[in-house]
Formats: sequence, structure tokens, C-alpha cells
Amino acid sequence: MKKKKKTALLVVTLIAVLSSFYFLLGYQSKQDGKLACNCPPGFQLTEQNTCILRNLYQQYSSLQNSGVGGLKTALPTVRDGFSPQQIDLGRLLFFDPILSGDKSISCASCHNPYKGFADGKAVTVGVGGAVQTRSAPTLWNVAYLNSFFWDGRSHSLEDQMQGPLFSPIEMGATRTQLLSTLNANRNYKELFSEAFPTEPSDSIQLNQIYTSIAAFESTLISLNSRYDQYAHGYDQALNDKEIEGLNIFRSFVARCAECHTPPLFTNQQIAVIGVPELEGKPLDPGAEIPNNDASMRGGFKVPSLRNIAKTAPYMHSGSMETLRDAAEFYNLGRGHAVPKDENLILHWHIWEPNLSDDELDRLVDFMNTLTDESFIPQIPKDVPSGLPVNIFKPIDNKVKTGSKVSMD
Ligand code: HEC
Ligand code: HEC
Repeated sequence: MKKKKKTALLVVTLIAVLSSFYFLLGYQSKQDGKLACNCPPGFQLTEQNTCILRNLYQQYSSLQNSGVGGLKTALPTVRDGFSPQQIDLGRLLFFDPILSGDKSISCASCHNPYKGFADGKAVTVGVGGAVQTRSAPTLWNVAYLNSFFWDGRSHSLEDQMQGPLFSPIEMGATRTQLLSTLNANRNYKELFSEAFPTEPSDSIQLNQIYTSIAAFESTLISLNSRYDQYAHGYDQALNDKEIEGLNIFRSFVARCAECHTPPLFTNQQIAVIGVPELEGKPLDPGAEIPNNDASMRGGFKVPSLRNIAKTAPYMHSGSMETLRDAAEFYNLGRGHAVPKDENLILHWHIWEPNLSDDELDRLVDFMNTLTDESFIPQIPKDVPSGLPVNIFKPIDNKVKTGSKVSMD
């Protein structure tokens, strides 16, 4: 009798444990291994089967008269309205190395969710170890951006991704090869026809690949940092040092908020600020090239500072190791790092604010409050190609180096 009771208890416990594992792994949103039919957190499903973003900033109507660095200001228009299936398919594609020419790297190799969707390197490394000239920007909140790349040369997510996909030194794929590999994969053929039910499904199209990846990227929303809680009126969210930092950040002395304008922490403009390159590297002409405009030489898009604590090293060149270095850059004198033979036209807000060491520390304290990774997507355990995902939680890096096991 006693033994039976014990066994029954054991079975019940086992079932409870197993089912909670099942739940934790996120299988509840899946049906028969197919695509999710719910929107990711933060999004609301409409009757038309599209996901619409909801957040507290939508209660603020305008950017007008809010003052520089005003707290209760609206965000720019967001890119949303994709279906749950397209978003989920994009997630699988994003982590699948099948997208690269030699099947060795995925978008996530350079935009790693565990590294703030950057890669922790000064400059990125593409297929076959090809070293790039610029650092990988974060993908958090790209749904709000109207231009892409450090030099702002692209104007949509769909257009942007064709850069890395088809660059021989990044992912090294070709359009023909990408289409034939995906079309030869039964899993992908099924998933694409599920995500694009109204389009003819006999073969996967390039624009369906672009749409899905863009759909996924636009769900990487980070708007619930302690700064945001403070902005919405919860005074306790920031401590005194952080509030002091916020006030320096938006003061007309430091002028950070003139360019890194809340709530997105970028005004989305190109500014020439005179950042140094990595030692021994030539000056990166930046926005001069796509705009064919010498006055934009050395100009780069103002990056958002959301989740900035996660994406060291900093700047287009990856030349600054810490946030303290980045803050100090603005204090070292206008144009101090510009090569002598260059005559860059620096932005007028770049000047000599003469901030004290304490004030620089407070700026760092403040930038550290911009972290919110609560909507980090689920890293797929397996991708439809069956290739290894190779994205590890930082803590697992040490023990799992070289292992082909993917993390969930
Ligand atoms: C080899 C590393 C690498 C891979 C792989 C890679 N990227 Fe990037 N990504 C970069 C670098 C470096 C930049 C900045 C390049 C520049 O500004 O010229 C960038 C820029 C971007 C941007 C612009 C962000 C902004 O704020 O302007 C987006 C979006 C993006 N990548 C998405 C993707 C997607 C989607 C994929 C997969 C299809 C991908 N990347 C694959 C390295 C990579
Ligand atoms: C004139 C506009 C402007 C002002 C003012 C400004 N920034 Fe920037 N900031 C930029 C641009 C442009 C970049 C990218 C430059 C590059 O990579 O070469 C940048 C980059 C950064 C980065 C690195 C971001 C990353 O993703 O690597 C940090 C951190 C930063 N700024 C903090 C500050 C702080 C703190 C202040 C105030 C002391 C400030 N900025 C003032 C335009 C500005």
C-alpha cells in the first residue's frame, strides 16, 4: 500500500516536472512543430492575423514642444503589422546558418541576442574569417529606424539585409544559391507556405525571405528599461546618481540628448563627430560615400543608446572599450582624434563641455539604466536546416566552446 502511494506520488511529480519543462521550453506556442500563431510579447493580434505593437509611449501624442530630452514624448512610426507566422519563420531564418554561402554563419553570429544583438567584437568577421571594417550595431528597436547601416545608406530592413546576405565577405550567399538551397529543403517549403498562405506556394521567393526576417527584426523591442519606468512617472525607478546623469545627459552643457534624443535615444541623423579608428586603420569616410558629399566625410548615423551597456566595444570602429571611454570622448576637445591631414566638418554640438570626472561617471550610470531585454526572443533549439545554431548563453561559453549543442 505504502509503496503504491509512493510510486503514484513519484509519477505525479514526474509529470508535473516534465510538463513544466515543456512549458518553459516554449512549446506551448507551437502546434505540431509548425509556426507560432500568437504574437510575441508586447504585440496584439488583430482579426486580420497581424501583430500590432502596444506600449506606453503611444499615449504621448507629439514630439513638439516636449523640450530636448523630454520624458513623455512620442516615438517615431513603428514597423509592425506582420503575421505571427511570418515573425516566427523570420526567427528561424535569423538563426539558421543555411543562409550563408558556406552554411557557417547566421545573422545571429554577428547579431547575438546574448550580446545585445551585436557580437562583442570591435569589427565583425564574415565567412571564411573575412574581417570587416565596422562593428555590428545592435538590432534592438530597429523597427523604429528610417535608415540603416552606420552611414545610413539603406532605407528599409528588407533592403538592408541584402547587404550582409550577398556580400562575399559577410554571409557570402548569392540570390540563386539561396533560393535553390531553401527550395530544396522540405521543412522550409512547408513553413513558407504556412507563413504566406495567399501567395502561390510552389516555390519560395526572395521577397518572402526578406519579409520574414524583417518581421522578426521588428519584434526586437526594448522600451521597458528603468529609464522608461521613470519617464512614465515611477520616480523610484532611478536612484539619485542616475537622475543626476539623466540631467547631465539632457543639459545644454553635455548636449547628448540633442543627438541621442529620447525616447529612442537617436534623432536618426548623420553627424560628423570625429571618432578615431582602430589603431593603424585609415579614416572611414562614412556617409560621404553613399551621399557623394564631402561635407559628410567621417559622418555616421547617431546610434540608439538602448541596451548600450550590452554592446561594447563602441562606435562604428569599435575603438572604445567602455561607456566611460565613450562619454570621455566628448570631453577631450572638439576634433581631438581627427587625423591631422583631414579637415572634417564637425557637428556644432560637438564642443568642449568640460565635464568633471564625477559628471562623466554619472553619464555612465545613466546609460546603464537603458537596459531592457525582457522581450529577448526564444533562441531556436533546432533550425529547419538541421545545422547547428551555435548561439550560447555567455555563462555556457566556457564549458561548451567547440561543442555543437545549441542552447534553448
Ligand atoms: C559578418 C557579420 C554580420 C552578419 C552575418 C550580419 N550582419 Fe548585420 N551588420 C553587420 C555590420 C558590421 C553592420 C554595420 C555595417 C555598416 O554599417 O556598414 C550590420 C548592420 C546591420 C543592420 C543595420 C542596423 C542599424 O542600426 O543601422 C541590420 C538591421 C542588420 N545588420 C541585420 C542583419 C541581418 C538580418 C542579417 C542576416 C541576414 C545580418 N545583419 C547579418 C554585421 C553582420
Ligand atoms: C552631434 C551629435 C552627438 C552628440 C551631441 C553626442 N553624440 Fe554620441 N554619438 C553620435 C554619433 C554620430 C555616434 C556614432 C559615431 C561613430 O561611430 O563614429 C555616437 C556614438 C555614441 C556612443 C556609442 C554607441 C555605440 O553603439 O557604439 C555612445 C555611448 C555615445 N555616443 C554617448 C554620448 C554621450 C554620453 C553624449 C554626451 C556627452 C553624446 N553621445 C553626444 C552623435 C552624438
